[in-house]
Amino acid sequence: MEKITTVKKFLIEHAKLNPVSFHMPGHKGAAFYKRFGHNDFLENFIDCDVTEIIGADNLFLTEGILKEAQDVYSELYDSRKSYLLINGSSSGIIAAILASVSKGKKLIMARNCHKSVFNTLTLADIQPIYAYPELNDDYDISGPIPPEEIDLLLKNNPDADAVILPSPNYYGICSDIEAISDIVHRNNKILIVDQAHGAHLKIFSKYGITELPESAEESGADIVINSTHKTLASLTQSAILNLNSDRVSHYMIEDKLQCIESTSPSYVLMTSLDINAGILKTHGYELMQDWIDNLNYFYDEAIKIPGLELIDRIPGMDWTKINFSFRKFGISGHELEQLLLAKNIFIELYTGDLVMSMTGIGNTRDDFRAFLEALTEISENRINNQTDSTSYASEENATKHVLAFKRAAIYEIPKKAKRVPLMEAEGLICKMSVIPYPPGVPLVCPGEKFERETLLYIQTLREKEEKVIGVNSAGEVLAGDCHSY
Ligand SMILES: Cc1ncc(COP(=O)(O)O)c(C=O)c1O
Repeated sequence: MEKITTVKKFLIEHAKLNPVSFHMPGHKGAAFYKRFGHNDFLENFIDCDVTEIIGADNLFLTEGILKEAQDVYSELYDSRKSYLLINGSSSGIIAAILASVSKGKKLIMARNCHKSVFNTLTLADIQPIYAYPELNDDYDISGPIPPEEIDLLLKNNPDADAVILPSPNYYGICSDIEAISDIVHRNNKILIVDQAHGAHLKIFSKYGITELPESAEESGADIVINSTHKTLASLTQSAILNLNSDRVSHYMIEDKLQCIESTSPSYVLMTSLDINAGILKTHGYELMQDWIDNLNYFYDEAIKIPGLELIDRIPGMDWTKINFSFRKFGISGHELEQLLLAKNIFIELYTGDLVMSMTGIGNTRDDFRAFLEALTEISENRINNQTDSTSYASEENATKHVLAFKRAAIYEIPKKAKRVPLMEAEGLICKMSVIPYPPGVPLVCPGEKFERETLLYIQTLREKEEKVIGVNSAGEVLAGDCHSY
């Protein structure tokens, strides 16, 4: 037998764990595909890995089977046109911006946008105008983008071409897209919504479930990008772009997509998008109903667990994402992740003492039961033997008020920059973005000053072995001073 590769070894061992996943992807494993009779795809996985053979259509000139799949999405999302993406929502976001904003022009963007938005700025020399999210004081996380903020920025920047923001954000907090859309369109601009985390919202409402926030498609956004892989059933890296108006030409979208995406689009990924569409079309109603029932069951039971604090089913919140903490017991998010991992439960991410778990279409009642059991056990253990929480308190101080993206002066990006140890970068100007992943929102962007509390936060993340792009293995960032240009 071939020597087992390390990646394969890791993945096979992970699969053998039979993990309870409250992490991406949304399908949560092969069982979901088998349940809907797609064993043939699973069994012929490698043989489905073809390229543009006769009859297979072409992603960048869809006329046949891929067009049929796109049309099903268009029906599901009530879009004018839908596009299959094989380089994630990231590629759709980049293409949408490039199609909407002329070279060198302005883009009004939420400061808590995903890194793909920031990366696009450099591709077309686009000037960002930041809209700052409200702060959720209780948990020190980003809240919605206020419509008044967009209104003001549009008044002050009549030469901006478009507006982009994430909704829901990573924690499930949605902005008022309907109000923002009215404002943007009154100013004759284009609204792009990064709905990477909310591909399911339109599907819920399509099947008559209105307990969750409205989707951006229904709220008037011109272009909406959905990571179907995060919460629905397509494979990781597949996504959908929906074009909902004629404010942007579909030719421009298509041209930018073919610039950005791989010229060897994976038929395995596109098949998974096709399967996802088919399942949603045929079994969408029962699946969405089960999902919401399971969530309501979970929340109703979880609020009874002593010490557990939940962000409950409040308006404006996509509560398919379950955000919770045991901060009353002095348990940090990192510790809670480890405690759950010991019970074979994988959560998506934590921030300070808040843990975010991502539910998906593939989660079963048994998953929610296992999750509740694990949380109940953690609670009982703490009640029975209280532990010292001093170390936690200092960790909290290091994270306080950092993730809220305060308004900061933006300096010219230094022409000369050098690698500087993290804690010596205070007061210097960032040359290379610093991006904790997840969530992939740049903490410090080129041109921003390194502040002490941000540096302390980055240090804390690294100590916890979190991935922070832009800090090298020696713990250095790329920075220059204000006078170096
Ligand atoms: C808010 C947000 N937008 C966009 C993306 C990019 O999505 P994808 O991974 O599908 O490229 C992410 C990824 O996590 C995200 O969190």
